[in-house]
Amino acid sequence: MDRASSPSCSVDIRTASLPAIYTATGSSKCSQPSARPAAIPFSIYTAKLFVYVVSTCVLLFILSQISLLQSRSAPSPRWPLSLVRQWQKIILDTTSSDVTLDSTAAATKASKVEDVDKRLRDAVTFLPLKDLRFADRPAEGHTWFISSLNDTSVGGGPQHMRFPSASSKGRVLCLKGRHFHDGSWNSYALAWPDALPRDATFMSGLTFVSYNHYDYGNIWHGLSTVFPFVAWHQGHSCRRPPERWVLYHWGELRPGMSPWLSKLMEATFGKPPSVEVFDKIKEDGSVCFEDAVVTRHNEGGMSTERRIEAYGLLRCSVRRYCNVSSEVDGDGNKVNTVRLTLFMRRGGRSFRNESAVVGIFQRECDKVEGCRLTLAHSDDLSFCDQVKLMSATDVLASPHGAQLTNIFMMDRNSSVMEFYPKGWLHYAGVGQYVYQWLSSWSGMSHQGAWRDPVGEDCPYPQDTAKCFDFYKNGLIGHNETHFSEWARKVLVEVKLRKIGDSVSKRKQDSIEIGGCACN
Ligand SMILES: *[C@@H]1O[C@H](CO)[C@@H](O)[C@H](O)[C@H]1NC(C)=O
Ligand SMILES: *[C@@H]1O[C@H](CO)[C@@H](O)[C@H](O)[C@H]1NC(C)=O
Ligand SMILES: *[C@@H]1O[C@H](CO)[C@@H](O)[C@H](O)[C@H]1NC(C)=O
Ligand SMILES: *[C@@H]1O[C@H](CO)[C@@H](O)[C@H](O)[C@H]1NC(C)=O
Ligand SMILES: *[C@@H]1O[C@H](CO)[C@@H](O)[C@H](O)[C@H]1NC(C)=O
Repeated sequence: MDRASSPSCSVDIRTASLPAIYTATGSSKCSQPSARPAAIPFSIYTAKLFVYVVSTCVLLFILSQISLLQSRSAPSPRWPLSLVRQWQKIILDTTSSDVTLDSTAAATKASKVEDVDKRLRDAVTFLPLKDLRFADRPAEGHTWFISSLNDTSVGGGPQHMRFPSASSKGRVLCLKGRHFHDGSWNSYALAWPDALPRDATFMSGLTFVSYNHYDYGNIWHGLSTVFPFVAWHQGHSCRRPPERWVLYHWGELRPGMSPWLSKLMEATFGKPPSVEVFDKIKEDGSVCFEDAVVTRHNEGGMSTERRIEAYGLLRCSVRRYCNVSSEVDGDGNKVNTVRLTLFMRRGGRSFRNESAVVGIFQRECDKVEGCRLTLAHSDDLSFCDQVKLMSATDVLASPHGAQLTNIFMMDRNSSVMEFYPKGWLHYAGVGQYVYQWLSSWSGMSHQGAWRDPVGEDCPYPQDTAKCFDFYKNGLIGHNETHFSEWARKVLVEVKLRKIGDSVSKRKQDSIEIGGCACN
């Protein structure tokens, strides 16, 4: 037999004229302890040779497996960790039985390491994602979501948690989080990457884990929730889009986000968001993430500059995604044009007499040279239609409602005019101001609101919640005198600003294709 030509386990042992019983172990299962030759009688010379060949073979196989395991910096997605462990165990076992007859010390050491490893794995403790101790004060600094850990924020950037990081002491985030109905059934834990819980599934790449106190269907609440991820991405040079998203609401898993939000994320990260629901993980199994970013405070704590920058990235990304060029609206965004858009709703919070309102704005627009009025209904428009419309709007007049979430897509410094039905001021709480906030966060100019004074009175004046329900989706009337004066004032102001911008050579946000700014 030519020993030099047997560098791997594929050596055909039959050439060494061994009994046929060994041929089966010769090809692929050379590491099996059952391949030990001592049990079967044959000549001493053959037995020695066989032991030698098998040992060499086992050694080479072990070496190749060890280097393979070491070179695998992270197991592939969904590679069951238990399998990796089993391999390591097999290798350790064969090593001690076949090779290290004279090195019991090494074996003891290995088993000690194994023991510590085992203890670390057993020490991983899962805590409920929804901490009921904070359930009555979800809005106070701390949320009930992953309540044992604090956020970090750098230079006015988004509040977030990163796993692994220095503050997690190098530990990764693990979740048992597949319940849709009760957040206290879902749980989280931190674990060192080389001592993950038993049966954990390892998911490689970047994972975004979000907490939303409202829902992912409403585009305003959805935008608020994904916004810190956009800012985080921008703060990391937009290098790496997330492999997956894990969405929670009150600690309950959510299977998706609204189509509008999904498109916005696709435009920003370059691929549609893949929302993980753990359906391929077995019932009580856990999942550990190679790299996870967790946010739970929306844009809270971010500086004005960082907000404006991140909305700038969103604006630029959606325009690029929808192929909006400066030519899109025919006469473009010329200095001498003022593009007024009436963005109407149907049903709740629509105008009682829409044509009357359009008539008022049309008359005022006609009085301003270069003014052009566009009438649109939010429910008629696709995502890119909305992007195109906003890109071609200097003044947006619209009833309060989710369609106003689009305002960040307008050029910087564009104007917003908002309308409310009766009852909102007293019963709607701070939520009624969200588009004022969004205007300032995204660098727009909110030109105030009109509140309809006319309408039925709430029959239960003592009950705020009931009265808000009563007024919530009321229709909106109009006041011709007021609307005319307001429209004239805003249109003139916008015209002067655009002329001023052009004189001082201050360009509007350029509608570049491909130039989205990252830090
Ligand atoms: C979180 O912050 C609070 C208040 O600053 C502090 O008392 C607590 O020790 C911090 N917890 C951790 C885990 O760092
Ligand atoms: C934008 O243009 C590209 C290339 O011309 C095209 O493949 C893509 O479908 C367009 N996208 C939209 C939203 O129109
Ligand atoms: C709506 O307003 C227009 C113009 O002011 C008026 O002619 C029309 O009668 C109004 N329609 C209703 C249903 O009140
Ligand atoms: C927006 O307006 C502010 C204040 O007038 C001005 O400083 C800023 O440069 C403007 N931004 C753009 C992009 O035109
Ligand atoms: C309409 O608006 C004008 C100007 O703001 C105001 O003086 C007038 O009282 C308003 N009319 C009604 C019916 O509210």
